[in-house]
Amino acid sequence: YDHVAPRLTGTKEGTFAYLTVRDRWPKIVTGLVDQLARKRNELIDRYGNAVESDIQGIMGKFAQLRYEIMCDKPLKIFSENGFDGPKWRQLVTDMKTAAMPDDMELLTYFKGPWLFVECYLYRFIYSAFLCTEKLSDMDYFEDSKQKNFMDHLPQVEEAASFINKIIASDAPAHDMFAVGTMFRMSLWGNRADMSLTGGDDHTMEMTSVVASAKLNDFILIDDTYNLMMRVLGPLLKNERKRQDRRIDIVLDNAGVELTGDLILALFLLRRGFTDKVVLHGKAIPWFVSDVTEKDFRWTIDSLKETGPEGERLMEHLKNCVLEEKIVFEADWFWTSPHPYFVMEEEAPELYAELQTSSLVIFKGDLNYRKLVGDRDWDLNTSFEKACRGFSPCPYFALRTLKAETVAGLSEETIDKILEKFEEDNQWMTSGEYAVLQLGNA
Ligand code: F6P
Ligand code: MG
Repeated sequence: YDHVAPRLTGTKEGTFAYLTVRDRWPKIVTGLVDQLARKRNELIDRYGNAVESDIQGIMGKFAQLRYEIMCDKPLKIFSENGFDGPKWRQLVTDMKTAAMPDDMELLTYFKGPWLFVECYLYRFIYSAFLCTEKLSDMDYFEDSKQKNFMDHLPQVEEAASFINKIIASDAPAHDMFAVGTMFRMSLWGNRADMSLTGGDDHTMEMTSVVASAKLNDFILIDDTYNLMMRVLGPLLKNERKRQDRRIDIVLDNAGVELTGDLILALFLLRRGFTDKVVLHGKAIPWFVSDVTEKDFRWTIDSLKETGPEGERLMEHLKNCVLEEKIVFEADWFWTSPHPYFVMEEEAPELYAELQTSSLVIFKGDLNYRKLVGDRDWDLNTSFEKACRGFSPCPYFALRTLKAETVAGLSEETIDKILEKFEEDNQWMTSGEYAVLQLGNA
């Protein structure tokens, strides 16, 4: 792995990273301030007048944060301990000193590594709430996550009806059509996340069932067949050891995306590819729309809102949760800024756990950025090289492209896409194009 591509930063004008730091981050922070102002009376009713000083404290910190982002100030070290405060203090201190990569100038909002600074931003936001007396466990992104689900009720009902039919049918497990449809449904849910719009409405008009059939021209890499041949097929035939029959899904967004992931989990269980699915979510509110344990439970309970098919799906899922066939976990590592190739060193227990899995499915853009280290790889760099030896078990990345990093495109695909977009990189950031990419198999 001797040649490592440069890290993405917010320094190059016109890039999406630059626009993210200049526009999207201040907008997300402003959105939170507006929300607190809107909810002030509701919060006073619930917590009493004492909450006023909490609200003022957070607003003051956020006004300062916006200023520091816009003026490209250095990142500060936060003082609270939280569940991971000491780790973060160490990371920021190290980055400011010895561990600062040679190709970086300073640990500021624009000049620091994009991935590191973006994770820091969400951890800083959490810190502001954590330091308060009354609002320390508030999920300040909850409203937009729940709204995303409620805005997609017809789509969810259709997806529920689809999986309910599959569960009832006796089609063979290796039926590639069903396997392909399920993975693509889960993939296209990733188009509907809210971090791109800073939490504004972002409704996916098309249902994920329709998307799974219609959007194939937007898939740049599709390794589903290889996944079937090398991983899922052998699992069905029990060619892997009994205790290996576990599949992990590293979740991304709540709302319509999570519904697709729960459906995928149920499918993998019911068709006999695995005995257990472990879902990995976030321990704290993260990147606007990412799933926490509360979102996971709320989503399953809310499926009944969509109609009879959703209600039936809810029952199936509740049984799986009760029997511990579907399990939710939230390791610290998923809200750290680390790329995945350092997981073995930084989170050895999590790594050892994934080594017992037959397959890890990574959902979404952020997970992909962490797999490939958020670097500006040449488009034809192999996925294996970009992942730099990360190999606890086979993994499958389902991601719509929202950041200027991708690896493993074929020459033919590169020619086609560059012919269509020439110098314009918007295909890498619009969330329209996607990959289903297999690693370490
Ligand atoms: O630039 C892309 C971005 O909005 C980043 O903030 C983040 O990496 C990502 O997209 C969020 O997308 P996803 O929810 O798919 O990880
Ligand atoms: Mg997300």
